[in-house]
Amino acid sequence: MKQFLTLDDLPNLDQAVNEAIALKKDPFQWEALGKNKTLGMLFFNPSLRTRLSTQKAAQNLGIKTMVMNFSNEAWAIEFEDGTQMSGLRSEHIREAAAVISQYCDLLAIRAFASLSDQKKDEEEQVLNSFAKYATIPVINMESATAHPLQALADAITIKEYSPKKRPKIVLTWAPHPKALPHAVANSFIRMTQQLDAEFVITHPQGYELNPNICKETPIEYNQEKALEGADFIYAKNWCSYTDYGKILRTDSDWMLTPEKMKGTANGKFMHCLPIRRNVVAADGVLDTPNSLVIQQANNRTFSAQLVLKKILENG
Ligand code: CP
Repeated sequence: MKQFLTLDDLPNLDQAVNEAIALKKDPFQWEALGKNKTLGMLFFNPSLRTRLSTQKAAQNLGIKTMVMNFSNEAWAIEFEDGTQMSGLRSEHIREAAAVISQYCDLLAIRAFASLSDQKKDEEEQVLNSFAKYATIPVINMESATAHPLQALADAITIKEYSPKKRPKIVLTWAPHPKALPHAVANSFIRMTQQLDAEFVITHPQGYELNPNICKETPIEYNQEKALEGADFIYAKNWCSYTDYGKILRTDSDWMLTPEKMKGTANGKFMHCLPIRRNVVAADGVLDTPNSLVIQQANNRTFSAQLVLKKILENG
């Protein structure tokens, strides 16, 4: 594997999940693979899980890491070509990417959507500019439109906990006070479309996601109907895609509650974290054995380890 910008970079999702589960059972067996290799990790946005799990994954493979927060530590980067850089941005992506490529062997980037410029967000300006100008493999640690490391961890979790060969999986929109990006939902949809599963998306009218991602996946506007018989319930907020970046409703009608979970098939609750308790889901949903949120976060290590290993093996 040459890079990991989206799930499409994985040659085979099912095989990747099985390999990640094998890594989880014996995480240090490839400790020599990353000897004398350095992973640069650039954060344009905050993180808990992605930062720590990716560093742990690198350590498990013998890779050293260097972390930089671009929000407050680095020179502000200009991504446009041909501009006169007389404003606030001091460093051009062409130099930044070339310089970092000399210090590192792999480069991981976190750069969320602006939610103000849909065109630039869809073009993945930050991630794709690093991929274009860096001379080393680039890994997506959540970009404007995708969070493939999360989706791979979710696939591992579903494989580990599925009660049947063809589970029912529901992605449900949930309330949130802030406008959140579409990246997690997009990658979860793309991942789940590749599974042998009955997959339903449920959200209020107006929260339709990119139709090029949802494709033929059924959308049910009645949340309780969608949850009927579900084996996995994946909750996530996202802002409007069509009225880009806007919050259309703030009421708690779509919050996941123990009462709603009773309509599922003893369903497992999933969320990428961080989660706002009693906004997205009630305490009574999170504080039960049916909540898999901590197990999902644990699988972020083996998702990242699988990706780093595959890239290192490519040379
Ligand atoms: N799920 C996830 O990406 O968590 P962080 O934002 O804390 O990295």
